[in-house]
Amino acid sequence: KILILDFGSQYTQLIARRIRELNVYSEIVPFNKIPELDDSIKGIILSGSPFSVTDANALQTDLGQLIGKRPVLGICYGAQYIAQQLGGKVERSLKREYGKAELSRIYQEDPFLQGVPQGSQVWMSHGDTIMEIPEDFELLAGTAHVDVAAYKSREGAFDQPVYCIQFHPEVTHSLHGKEVLENFVIGIAGCEGSWTPAAFVEETVEELKAQLGGDHVIMGLSGGVDSTVAASLLHEAIGDNLICIFVDNGLLRKDEFEEVLHSYKDMGLRVVGVDAKAQFYRELAGISDPEGKRKVIGRVFIEVFEQEAKKLEAEDRAIKWLGQGTIYPDVIESVSVHGPSVTIKSHHNVGGLPEKLDLRITEPLRMLFKDEVRKVGAELNVPKNILGRHPFPGPGLGIRILGDITPEKVAMLQEADAIYINNLRKFGLYDQVWQAGTILLPVQSVGVMGDERTYEKTVALRAVDSRDGMTAEWSRLPHDFLATVSSEIINNVKGINRVVYDISTKPPSTIEWE
Ligand code: XMP
Repeated sequence: KILILDFGSQYTQLIARRIRELNVYSEIVPFNKIPELDDSIKGIILSGSPFSVTDANALQTDLGQLIGKRPVLGICYGAQYIAQQLGGKVERSLKREYGKAELSRIYQEDPFLQGVPQGSQVWMSHGDTIMEIPEDFELLAGTAHVDVAAYKSREGAFDQPVYCIQFHPEVTHSLHGKEVLENFVIGIAGCEGSWTPAAFVEETVEELKAQLGGDHVIMGLSGGVDSTVAASLLHEAIGDNLICIFVDNGLLRKDEFEEVLHSYKDMGLRVVGVDAKAQFYRELAGISDPEGKRKVIGRVFIEVFEQEAKKLEAEDRAIKWLGQGTIYPDVIESVSVHGPSVTIKSHHNVGGLPEKLDLRITEPLRMLFKDEVRKVGAELNVPKNILGRHPFPGPGLGIRILGDITPEKVAMLQEADAIYINNLRKFGLYDQVWQAGTILLPVQSVGVMGDERTYEKTVALRAVDSRDGMTAEWSRLPHDFLATVSSEIINNVKGINRVVYDISTKPPSTIEWE
């Protein structure tokens, strides 16, 4: 595998993903937490950073633990840091480069730049410039603006080669970035490129068998991609020793509980479906504050799950583990310039459960990105209707009903939502948008139906395009589609006489309204 030291660049995760696309496993660690270099680590990459190496508070790591021990690649800040630490010169200069540039000067041929033509477009983003490279190093390439776009250690200078590049090979604007990474990871570091979804499944199933032995595992399912794929991996490893719990919190989409339960049974999972609607509605009555609702939904979920888990544990003494669908972005300890991030919304990810239950945790997907989870799911034959699902928040429709929650409002919103989602499928738009949903507003307005004046509620439609939910653009859905949805909702859902479309981007808005 390849180890990536994170100096806080917004692109660090992208480096990891690009390497994994070469079927080589890669792992991110904070810049100052270098693990012991065991045999599995074949090469090390130093990421970019929002910091400048010339700052007094620049992030420091111990290069002595890396250089000479494994092949090293420094990218942007990584390249500047290596230059500066080993005796070269980096300056905050006028020759800043942001955006596209060309490798107009290739000084010498090298395996590292194999397949990269002279003039190849690269993506630059740096305020500092490497003015001099250290002794024992030699130049590989430059752009029209900077002499040092790529350099490397001289043959024999260290036991292992060091390569440094000022540009970002991980972004698609670097047209031969993939070749550069491949040359380093496979050609120079000698990784094999054998890390595929099938290999991951095989390896993980073996690990889970060894980890769990004859113990039993309980796990909460949500109908979403992550928990379902995690469960099917566990099922592959331990069969019916995995017992799943699927809770109806009364805030799911129309008919979702029955449909998903059905899919789970088809997949051969042992699932206990729990109808806890009444308990959720009771505890939510009268609460309209968004954070208040989230807290109640999170708490009641834990209570219901705990109750069910205790029942199962009483019958089955072998239950020792709690399975969770945690994925890599939740696990990476990112280095942030802004310090620990403030709570914008308290996400409901069943945190708190492990402490309550006194079970050990198994998280088979903790090293995977979302798109990798989908590939592993496909490998395990998880049904397409689950793998292709839009993200749906843990608190469900609870955060799409503004104001207090009543069963009547839930039913109203479920109907409108079903019309919207079904039409997205009918018009072939479902897979084009990243996420879609309806929001019931606590606003009444005047309308006219037949000869009657009405004074009823408004539904907002939301659809966004996004990569990871961190930023989002509102989807440009066709007007005839919106017209169909609007008239179907108003004609069929009693209590709604107005439909609006949300045209806000994130930031500054968020995807959900609460
Ligand atoms: P926001 O509204 O913060 O949403 O822009 C970003 C993404 O996160 C989802 N979301 C949640 N997912 N538990 C979840 O598992 C939650 O409490 C939660 N709140 C928001 C949201 O649907 C979107 O995909």
